[in-house]
Amino acid sequence: MSTLVQTIAVLGGTGAEGSGLALRWARAGLRVILGSRNPEKAAKACRELNALAGTDSISFADNRSAAAAAAIVVLTVPHQVQRATVEEVRDAIAGKILIDTTVPLVPPKVARVQLPAGGSAVAEVQRMLGATVRVVSAFQNVPAHNLRDLDHPVDCDVLVCGDDVAAREIVIGLARDVGLRAYHAGPVCNSAAAEALTSILICLNIRYKVPGAGIRITGIPDTTS
Ligand SMILES: NC(=O)c1ccc[n+]([C@@H]2O[C@H](COP(=O)([O-])OP(=O)(O)OC[C@H]3O[C@@H](n4cnc5c(N)ncnc54)[C@H](OP(=O)(O)O)[C@@H]3O)[C@@H](O)[C@H]2O)c1
Repeated sequence: MSTLVQTIAVLGGTGAEGSGLALRWARAGLRVILGSRNPEKAAKACRELNALAGTDSISFADNRSAAAAAAIVVLTVPHQVQRATVEEVRDAIAGKILIDTTVPLVPPKVARVQLPAGGSAVAEVQRMLGATVRVVSAFQNVPAHNLRDLDHPVDCDVLVCGDDVAAREIVIGLARDVGLRAYHAGPVCNSAAAEALTSILICLNIRYKVPGAGIRITGIPDTTS
């Protein structure tokens, strides 16, 4: 287990991706706070996830309180509300690591790559926050469906992008805690590639009628970080 991190806040943690990550981290022994706008929905998600994980280490709070109570904050909300959610918790995440999982999908054509004008949704958040928050992009290619299925390891690697190498290393550790292989993939602007890949994976899901196509990096020994 990551020794540097004990409590993680997952904003939007009642949703598909956030609840899957929360479940896996709780099972790995970390404490997780689900951030939510809706206490009843969050309480229900908490009960279900704790039962699935066999723990009592998942709790809930509003997004701002969750962010204030954790050293690492994970953003798992739809792209349309990514910036507004970050604005809401801005004071609470100063000096911390923000792991942003956002993919800038533009419904209804989610299987088409449509990156924002700035190139990457996550890089835009790093620009918005400035150097006070270390933004790390990760998990864009990890299907929620696979995270939820505890009977199987998650068959997908993780590209980790961010301008701060030490912060990337911590996020790689968190991915490894749940059995994922994760890799330093360069500065936060490189998140554009991971964000774009998700639309390709959605194409593959549709074409090959599967619930969760993923990616694998080859040519790097498992022991290398
Ligand atoms: N689903 C996947 O397989 C997957 C894979 C990789 C990355 N991602 C990325 O992860 C993020 C979340 O995806 P998801 O599929 O988990 O989304 P989701 O289930 O639709 O939504 C996640 C949570 O966001 C909050 N939310 C929804 N609308 C909101 C609004 N208008 N304002 C504030 N909060 C709102 C909700 O939490 P409360 O109602 O509790 O506040 C909701 O449970 C997205 O950026 C997505 O691109 C998803």
